[in-house]
Amino acid sequence: MKRTDLLLYSYLIISTFLKKNYYNTALCKKITPWRCCNKMKSFRVAVLANLKENAPVFEGMGKDQWDDLDSESTVISLVNAIREGGHQAEFLEADDSIIDTVRDYKPDICFNIAESHFGDSREAQIPAILEKMQIPYTGSKVLTLALTLDKPMTKRILAWHNLPTPEFQSFEREDEQLEEGMEFPLFIKPSREGTGMGISYESILHNETELRTQLRYILRKYKQSALVERYIEGREVTVGLVGNLIGPVARRIPKDENAHRIQAGLQFLPPMEVNLEPWIESGKVYGNDLKTAHAADLEYLCPAPLDEDQVDELNWLAAAVFRVTGALDVSRIDFRLDVHDNFKPYILEINPLPGLMPKLSDIVIEAEADGIGHTELVNMILNTALQRYGLI
Ligand SMILES: Nc1ncnc2c1ncn2[C@@H]1O[C@H](COP(=O)(O)OP(=O)(O)O)[C@@H](O)[C@H]1O
Ligand SMILES: [Mg+2]
Repeated sequence: MKRTDLLLYSYLIISTFLKKNYYNTALCKKITPWRCCNKMKSFRVAVLANLKENAPVFEGMGKDQWDDLDSESTVISLVNAIREGGHQAEFLEADDSIIDTVRDYKPDICFNIAESHFGDSREAQIPAILEKMQIPYTGSKVLTLALTLDKPMTKRILAWHNLPTPEFQSFEREDEQLEEGMEFPLFIKPSREGTGMGISYESILHNETELRTQLRYILRKYKQSALVERYIEGREVTVGLVGNLIGPVARRIPKDENAHRIQAGLQFLPPMEVNLEPWIESGKVYGNDLKTAHAADLEYLCPAPLDEDQVDELNWLAAAVFRVTGALDVSRIDFRLDVHDNFKPYILEINPLPGLMPKLSDIVIEAEADGIGHTELVNMILNTALQRYGLI
């Protein structure tokens, strides 16, 4: 090798090493990583979402049909946050035009929060298209988004891993019998909805009559199976996280309960509790009405008043759910703490596409409690994905 070649070669190796470590250090610290990274590289980012106002309207559609979709102001805030991070950004409506609009815009990466409109695996549709087009995107992939939209399927995976989730039964028909061990009080919800859709004080079931009435309601209105679970009376806590599990920890959960629990690569945000105590008329249930009409009237306690051991336990469970569902970059995991069992945490669900509305979305409130503003949170998610793809 010539001397000049050798010099050039050494320079490349050293600069790659420095660059890698610079990014890694920036990402791991609770400083403003997006500011550091973006001084170095700017990307073209398409924000893919489904706006409530662009959603299709059809006969017999329920009032809550599109409650899971995003408002224009949320999408604008995401575009602005990404631009503030030093990138170019545009919003593209994630509808049937998406193949053409993405092809025209030529993004380096998509910031995906699209829930899509129809189908049992609707949240997986846009990622499936992007994979086909070989375009990187933030957040979880096809399999995870299809799985976690389906609450009974997710619970089967959690139960297989001995992770604490309430005992349950899935109902396809109104006349199916309750299985042995399923004792009242129970709780019912649609299998594949979010934002508390189909959930209210009436979801708490005390007897067979209530079970049959609610089964009929869910099966007919939401045209999908119903999930019936053991009712967990207790506190309502949610844990948000950003990052990715690294190394072998990403693939297994230690069998030994006392084994060291590694969560390397994840940044946990402080847990948030929704104070449901004053909401007796709503059955202290965080249902659709509270999540939409009363979102601004609720008391959010963040960090939730929990001791260190409880927070550790919640973080470990959140990491385990993130791991076994194969989630990526960001998620929010919902828990109930059983008042009759020393506040034992039960996993209700994982939200791999958590709401990102400034000020009001749970994970945004959690980030703020940790000194991380909306702009920074959005850029942390983007940078986590860019790093996963090896783009930074
Ligand atoms: N098994 C349960 N026991 C008690 N309350 C529950 C149970 N499952 C759900 N809930 C209540 O319903 C709310 C919404 O349920 P969740 O499964 O998180 O669905 P969503 O996707 O609509 O957020 C929870 O935050 C909680 O208040
Ligand atoms: Mg929830």
